[in-house]
Amino acid sequence: MFHHRHRLVTLDYLPKAVIDAKKLYAWHSRRIGVTNDADSGSRHITSLDAMRGLAGWSAARPYIQASSRSQLSTGSARFARQLHFQAQLRHRQNAASQVKAQYRSVSTTTATDVGSGLTRFKNIVLGSSIVVFLSFSYLYITDTRASIHEYVVVPLLRTLVPDAEEAHKYGNKSLKALYSFGLHPRERGNPDAKGDLRVEVFGHVLDNPIGTSAGLDKNAEIPDPVLALGPGLVEVGGMTPFPQEGNPKPRVWRIPSQNALINRYGLNSEGAANAALRLRQRVRQFAYQLGLGLDPEAEKAVLDGEAGVPPGSLTPGRLLAVQVAKMKGTPDNDIEAVARDYVYCVNQLAKYADVLVVNVSSPNTPGLRSLQQTAPLTAILTSVVGAAQATDRKTKPAVMVKVSPDEDSEEQVRGICDAIWASGVDGVIVGNTTKKRPDPLPRGYVLPAKEEQLMLEQGGYSGPQMFERTLALVKQYRKTLDKGPIQLTPEEQRGEKPEPKGSDVQIGHDGSAEITPERVDESVQRDQQRLKPMTAEAEAESKQPIIKIPERHAGSAEPAHELQAAEPAFSASTHAVQGTSSRSPAASAGNSSNTSPTPVSEQKEKVIFATGGITNGKQALEVLNAGASVAMVYTAVVYGGAGTISRIKSEMREEMKKR
Ligand SMILES: Cc1cc2nc3c(=O)[nH]c(=O)nc-3n(C[C@H](O)[C@H](O)[C@H](O)COP(=O)(O)O)c2cc1C
Repeated sequence: MFHHRHRLVTLDYLPKAVIDAKKLYAWHSRRIGVTNDADSGSRHITSLDAMRGLAGWSAARPYIQASSRSQLSTGSARFARQLHFQAQLRHRQNAASQVKAQYRSVSTTTATDVGSGLTRFKNIVLGSSIVVFLSFSYLYITDTRASIHEYVVVPLLRTLVPDAEEAHKYGNKSLKALYSFGLHPRERGNPDAKGDLRVEVFGHVLDNPIGTSAGLDKNAEIPDPVLALGPGLVEVGGMTPFPQEGNPKPRVWRIPSQNALINRYGLNSEGAANAALRLRQRVRQFAYQLGLGLDPEAEKAVLDGEAGVPPGSLTPGRLLAVQVAKMKGTPDNDIEAVARDYVYCVNQLAKYADVLVVNVSSPNTPGLRSLQQTAPLTAILTSVVGAAQATDRKTKPAVMVKVSPDEDSEEQVRGICDAIWASGVDGVIVGNTTKKRPDPLPRGYVLPAKEEQLMLEQGGYSGPQMFERTLALVKQYRKTLDKGPIQLTPEEQRGEKPEPKGSDVQIGHDGSAEITPERVDESVQRDQQRLKPMTAEAEAESKQPIIKIPERHAGSAEPAHELQAAEPAFSASTHAVQGTSSRSPAASAGNSSNTSPTPVSEQKEKVIFATGGITNGKQALEVLNAGASVAMVYTAVVYGGAGTISRIKSEMREEMKKR
């Protein structure tokens, strides 16, 4: 029997004749753990080691010796020899494997040392490369100057999300999420720090005259991410008093060959109260970060200018405009109800705005544009100005009205300008999307059939084709507004009661008021009070950084020269109001006999923002030099992506250098 491993092995084949080997064998057996069975005369191997030992050279030697003396039987001798050779072989193998193992262990230790050093080095290189790559990717992707925004992100979004409204939503949500992780695109290096694009608006110095216009952020969800893209002004809204759905979907379409859009949203809004909550939260967070706390007092401190930033934008050199609109269901002929809608929104939102914008020009709310007639417009704007003045804040928001590019006859523009002067609003945004369908660009271009079809959709059109029209309108408004409040007839100048002129008669939302010289005086006075002159006291009161810039359009040392356009920039001091005697400060103080013209410099110039088809720096400069203070963009951002504003500003600088 022969059992492997720990089993009893009986060596009863050993002949009794092996006497001379017996002693040696017994000694060896004892040494290696083989026992003799006295009764049977058999020998047992009690352990594997013993077995191995027995199988070794020294254990086999006696049998070999015996066999060589022919004392073993032939079979036993053969077996012993086999055992011996196997043992020898195993021994050698063991020895070899021991040597190998020793060698391996030495070499493995050395190799492990070298290997782990190498691995560590590799890991460090790999880790550093990943860190460097991620850092560069982060710096690149989050920089508005990266062309990836225009050439990758925008086409990708357009391909992945074919519906324009969904794409817009997705874009806004992404921007919001990225902002919350600090991964949003932003203008790096503060290119505005040079001050070469500064403009002064409502007593604030804006770092640059580029704005984003209403509709991009309808519910004030992303003012800060949009501000980070580099504009001097961001307009959020339009917001209606209460939530409203807007028109059924689909309601926005792209016209890609023209980089244009058609929309008939119909002022979909989450409502003024929701937006106000969001804006309030934003102010409180800002206060908290400054260590002022999270409570209403902290909020008030920030809104009152104690943080040294404009209360709307919360960012030095930037402004936040908040647009308000009426509900679709409020009847247009009920001016009081319409005015109430706007006033409700103002009461909710004015605290958080640097500028309030009254939207009477959306082409997608039936009847809205009829409110641009002088009488209803004056009534509505007067109410809004009153409500804005009542804002519980140290500095009051400025008020602007956004008008349509489609009401462009001289008479219509004159009527709107009259309402602007009469109501005391601070300025006008010219214009909005158009009902018209401009000719495609370049001239003679034939639209693809699909786009031709889309052009038939009802709604407002926006895109580069509108630019010439916007430019012309800005010039027209500038010229008309600069003529002063109301063109008085010679009889009026003589103090005779003017004849009522159609719709200009009823202006108050109570339906009782007329445009009288007294009323206009009132509005001018109110205007002058609100738009305080640049005195040290005014500056201290507002606690906002106010820098007086010599020229309206620029903040550089040689602004007029640098911004020289095809037409010379408007210079306020060279214009005089025609026939404004009854509205001069002297007249309003009771000196009605004073008929000498009041220079415009003594009145407050109405501010113009331009919107419609502005897509590049050259165009921005053109509208600025035509008399606008801010050039606003929307559709250009949809097609150009997050880098659009930086691009436009850099093009402005290039253009200014050329000139
Ligand atoms: C989809 C879309 C939504 C808009 N929503 C508003 C809005 O709510 N209120 C408003 O006054 N203008 C709105 N506008 C008009 C823009 O603010 C802007 O005045 C107009 O598009 C012209 O400028 P642009 O050529 O730079 O786009 C919207 C425009 C688009 C394309």
